[in-house]
Amino acid sequence: MQTQVGIVGAGPAGLVLSHLLHVEGIDSVVIEQRSRSYVETRIRAGVLEQGSTDLLIETGVGGRMLAEGAVHDGVNLQFNGERHRIDFARLTGGRRITVYGQQEVVKDLIAARLDAGGTILFEAADATPKDIAGEHPTIAFRHQGTDHELACDVIAGCDGFHGVCRGVIPAGVLSEFGREYPFGWLGVLATVAPSTDELIYAFHERGFALHSLRSPELSRLYVQVDPSDDIENWSDERIWEELQLRLASPGWTMTEGPIIEKAMTAMRSYVCEPMQYGRLYLAGDAAHIVPPTGAKGMNLAIADVTILARALADWFHRGDHSGLDDYSDRCLGRVWRVQDFSNTMTELLHVLPPGDPFASRVQRAKQRYVATSQAMQHTIAENYVGLPLD
Ligand code: PHB
Repeated sequence: MQTQVGIVGAGPAGLVLSHLLHVEGIDSVVIEQRSRSYVETRIRAGVLEQGSTDLLIETGVGGRMLAEGAVHDGVNLQFNGERHRIDFARLTGGRRITVYGQQEVVKDLIAARLDAGGTILFEAADATPKDIAGEHPTIAFRHQGTDHELACDVIAGCDGFHGVCRGVIPAGVLSEFGREYPFGWLGVLATVAPSTDELIYAFHERGFALHSLRSPELSRLYVQVDPSDDIENWSDERIWEELQLRLASPGWTMTEGPIIEKAMTAMRSYVCEPMQYGRLYLAGDAAHIVPPTGAKGMNLAIADVTILARALADWFHRGDHSGLDDYSDRCLGRVWRVQDFSNTMTELLHVLPPGDPFASRVQRAKQRYVATSQAMQHTIAENYVGLPLD
């Protein structure tokens, strides 16, 4: 088997890359460990920046998102019951976000790739990049009981934080930076009409809570929990009770409904530098993780592969490898900006561990600043809708 770009992973990074390469007339093969139905139903975040939606629309895969996604002109930040709206449209000159589940983006891209005759190999086991330092890298994998080797010009590692690609880079090449947060999120999907038109991020002395949504009939909600807590401790009744307490605001009521899905996520920040070695380029969660409070994970993945697709087009079409040489540097500027924003939002909104009253007082001062300063609201809006790619 042979292709120009071998892509490991059929999440947003791998699929958007394969699609953008197709638009450029460059051939790719996507190798995915899981089944098609698994990746199409895996519930993840659901906020697309202005730049991400623009890209999907411009490249012809935004149709269902335009029809079914919800465009939001703002979000609410709430501190101890007091709600403050961050007005994106006013503060950013009309930029906005679209709420559309990540798995819906994945479904649309898989359909588009397969319709265009693209190759996505699902349930391919043990994918392993080989010879990445030379000019003839390959990806070994097992598919339908047979061992295969895919010869390619370059490999894109889009296989997530726990994927294999980052691990094949020789020891000593990568510098790694990160932190784990002392809190987790318990996320639920509930079949009830959202009680809000726009997201509500709430700080409350009992812990953070987030009211998000997926459709007119589906609400997506989160509560801050201890990361070592057991999901078994959280009955549906207890989850709703905490959500009611933490999201409460004068004059507002929240309607409860059946919970159809429940999961816990740990929260961490992570970056590896550089994001490339030889002919292997890492993109998305394979190279970096942000805590979900800034709603940036999928958007960063899309930004990485947009840069990578342009660099690959310059190389394949014009023999210019400067974009590939600079790939990591170009991505990392944005990656660290987003790390700062995600960390700021996380530390602004979560109840910090006890024992550091100084940190808690500084947090309270930041919350008051967000509530009262146009400059701070401007900063949050600009980062939340996403900074332009260039
Ligand atoms: C979601 O809708 O799942 C969601 C929204 C905003 C976040 C994180 C998750 O910051």
